[in-house]
Amino acid sequence: MKVFIAGIDGYLGWSLAQYLTARGHEVAGTDKFLRRAWVEELGSVSALPVFSIEERLTAFRARFGKSLIFREGDLLDYEFVRGFLEEFQPEAIVHLAEMPSAPYSMIDQVHAAFTHSNNVIGSLNILWAMREVCPDAHLVKLGTMGEYGTPNVDIPEGFFELEYRGRKDRLPFPRQPGSFYHLTKVHDTHNTIFACRVWGLRSTDIMQGVVFGTRIDEMGDDPHLSTRLDFDQCFGTAINRFCCQAVIGHPLTLYGRGGQTRGFLPLRDSMQCLTLAIENPPKPGEYRVFNQFEECYTIEELAFKVKEAGDRAGLSVDILHYDNPRKELEAHYYHPDRQNLIDLGYKPTHDVVAEMQIMLRDLIPHQARIMHKREILVPDIRWDGTRRRSLVIQQTAETFKP
Ligand SMILES: NC(=O)c1ccc[n+]([C@@H]2O[C@H](COP(=O)([O-])OP(=O)(O)OC[C@H]3O[C@@H](n4cnc5c(N)ncnc54)[C@H](O)[C@@H]3O)[C@@H](O)[C@H]2O)c1
Repeated sequence: MKVFIAGIDGYLGWSLAQYLTARGHEVAGTDKFLRRAWVEELGSVSALPVFSIEERLTAFRARFGKSLIFREGDLLDYEFVRGFLEEFQPEAIVHLAEMPSAPYSMIDQVHAAFTHSNNVIGSLNILWAMREVCPDAHLVKLGTMGEYGTPNVDIPEGFFELEYRGRKDRLPFPRQPGSFYHLTKVHDTHNTIFACRVWGLRSTDIMQGVVFGTRIDEMGDDPHLSTRLDFDQCFGTAINRFCCQAVIGHPLTLYGRGGQTRGFLPLRDSMQCLTLAIENPPKPGEYRVFNQFEECYTIEELAFKVKEAGDRAGLSVDILHYDNPRKELEAHYYHPDRQNLIDLGYKPTHDVVAEMQIMLRDLIPHQARIMHKREILVPDIRWDGTRRRSLVIQQTAETFKP
């Protein structure tokens, strides 16, 4: 199939380009290299070195025997988006090109407003361009499990049956997002539902859990093909950040009690699931939702799993509780469905600790890069709009262990 990836230079995009090419798909994509700039703005670096796009593309051609069609561009530049899609005529468009961090969107007014205009308008431009130049393409839109928040009831895949005052309907499940970033994903969801309803576009809206991992097999051992791996407070997601902390002997920074429960999945599972969605498109006019995660864990459980993987690697890993800079429930009910992908053949990687061991092995050679930036490992962006470094509130994680 012809697949267009928006955000192809990012953590998931660079991996997906390789995964799909290895399966014989023809891939084109765009990026504005914003992720590189955001991480630099935070005074951080990727733990795994990220090479220039020219070096990446050369290594790609050497490994896969064909070129990746790449153009630098901004989704906010409508003429660029429409022109590229009109020329390439994709059968599927995977839209990953958004600012993906909750803390980054909570820094101040400027960052919140940037996140909204970048994400919401960029997504709107894709919808309009599809309508104008490739209305039969399938939009695989990356949302997040964070759109739902943490309701005290089970979470369905997008929609639920509701009976109200004697009448029934199938309606979008309520969204209770926890940051301005998550809110942009909710706005995208509504725009996508609308575009499918009124224009007959087709879309799979992926409510993805938090992804972790340093590699997929398709990358081989060429470091130019490696994806990025961040550990700062904005772009370092929980397990990725914990693994980077573990390899330099920094205590794992649990926020608050650590009872926050979320869906997680390894990078290789994310690739598998996105590919299942791409290769099994919905009907024209259909909007469907896939909840995408391997399993749900508390943050504390994950910290202990990283500790276990660290023990096996001969690392000494401490876990400390820091006061939580976010506004979120630290102990709550969490039970989302994820049947749609299983029905399409998703085989979850169940051995999460083994995946963490691979990550530690990949990260150990880069200890010095992480060590050099160790002062940024404790968060200071707070949900009340202030900046203050979190303090240790509990020396031993055992106290709060569920
Ligand atoms: N990584 C995760 O754990 C995770 C979990 C749930 C959802 N998601 C979603 O998946 C998508 C990809 O996530 P990721 O981790 O690969 O993030 P990423 O930041 O590494 O990738 C996004 C890419 O899009 C590019 N981009 C952003 N805005 C752009 C614009 N206006 N024009 C052109 N390029 C632009 C960035 O430069 C970056 O390379 C995001 O939408 C994110 O919200 C990610």
